[in-house]
Amino acid sequence: MNDLMRRMLFLPEQASDYARRVDHLHYFVIITTMIAATGVFLTALIFFVKYRRRSDTDRTPHIAPRLIHEVLFIAVPLGFFLLWFAIGFPQYVDLQRPPQGAMDVYVQGKKWMWKFAYPGGPSSLDSLRIPVGRPVRLLITSRDVIHSFYVPAMRVKQDALPGRYTQTWFTAERPGRYEIFCAEYCGMGHSSMLGELIAMPAAEFDDWLQQQRRGLPLTADSAPVAGDPVRARSNLIAQGQRVAADQGCLKCHTVDGTRHIGPTWTDLYGRPEKLTTGKTVVADEGYLTKSMMDPAADIVAGYQNVMPTFQGKMSPPEIAAIVEYIKSLSTAAVRSGPSEGPAYESIPRK
Ligand code: CUA
Repeated sequence: MNDLMRRMLFLPEQASDYARRVDHLHYFVIITTMIAATGVFLTALIFFVKYRRRSDTDRTPHIAPRLIHEVLFIAVPLGFFLLWFAIGFPQYVDLQRPPQGAMDVYVQGKKWMWKFAYPGGPSSLDSLRIPVGRPVRLLITSRDVIHSFYVPAMRVKQDALPGRYTQTWFTAERPGRYEIFCAEYCGMGHSSMLGELIAMPAAEFDDWLQQQRRGLPLTADSAPVAGDPVRARSNLIAQGQRVAADQGCLKCHTVDGTRHIGPTWTDLYGRPEKLTTGKTVVADEGYLTKSMMDPAADIVAGYQNVMPTFQGKMSPPEIAAIVEYIKSLSTAAVRSGPSEGPAYESIPRK
C-alpha cells in the first residue's frame, strides 16, 4: 500500500524513518481530499441534472438548509484540517528537536557547493557521509546567499541562511547513496549545486571517520573503528587478510607455519630473524613495513630474494592492515595476550 501510493505520487524512495511518517500524512491528506473532491464533483453533476431548468417558466424554489447540514458542512472539513494538524505538528516539532547524542555535522552552502565538517575536524565537499541507524544533526549555514539543503529521500529540507545556523536532523534507515539538492534559487549555478549523501553501515562510517581524522588516504571499502578498539582491530585484521590475498602475498607466505617461498607469517611478529648478512632483526612493525617496501634490504637467511616491492601498490592503511593481520597470526608459543595497536597508531586499549 505504502509503496503503491508512493509510486502513484511519484515520490522518491523513503530512506529515513521521518520520510515514512511524512509520506503517511501526505497519503492521508491526498486520499481524504480526493474523496471530498470526488464527492463535490458528483454532487454538482447530480444537481445539474436534477435541478436543470425544464421550461422557461421554471422558477428556482427557495431552499432553506437545515441546521444540521450547516453544522456538518463546517464541522467535517474543519475536523479534517484539525486532524491533519494534530498528525503533522508533532512531526514538525520532532524535526526541530534533534535527540540527545545525535552526531553533529556542519553544513555550509556557498555558491555553488556544499561543504560538510565532521566532529573531530575532517571535512568534505559535496559528499556527506553518515552512519545508518544513528541520528545525525545538521547545523546549516551559508557563506553568501540563501540556499536550501534538500535531500528528497530523507524528506529533509532546510534553508541555509548567511550569518545564522539553522538545524535539522534525521536518521538514515539503510545504506545507500542519495541526492542532495539546493532548493532555493541562488544564482547561475543553482541547478548544479548538487551533492551526494552516502549512508554507510555505522561500523564502516566509524572506520572512515577515524581514517579521515588520521589524515590517511582512504582506500576502497577500507576499515578501523572509533570508540571500539576491539572491533577496530578485528576489522583491520579482516581487511589485512583481504589485502594479502588480493596482492598475492599468500602465494609465497603461508599462514599455517609451513615453510614456503617466503617465511611463514605464523608467529612472525616479534620473532628474531637471522638475515643473510648475519645480522639479527626482530620482526616488528617497522621491519614488516620495510620488507614490503624494500624486500631486498633485509633478506632472511635461507630464502631467495624474489619478492617484488609493494611500494606504491598499497596505501598506508592497507599496509597497516597487513601488519595487523600478521600480528594476529601469533600463537601462544611466541606471545600471549592481545597484540598492540597497528603500526601507524596506538589505539587505546580498553
Ligand atoms: Cu544554492 Cu540554489
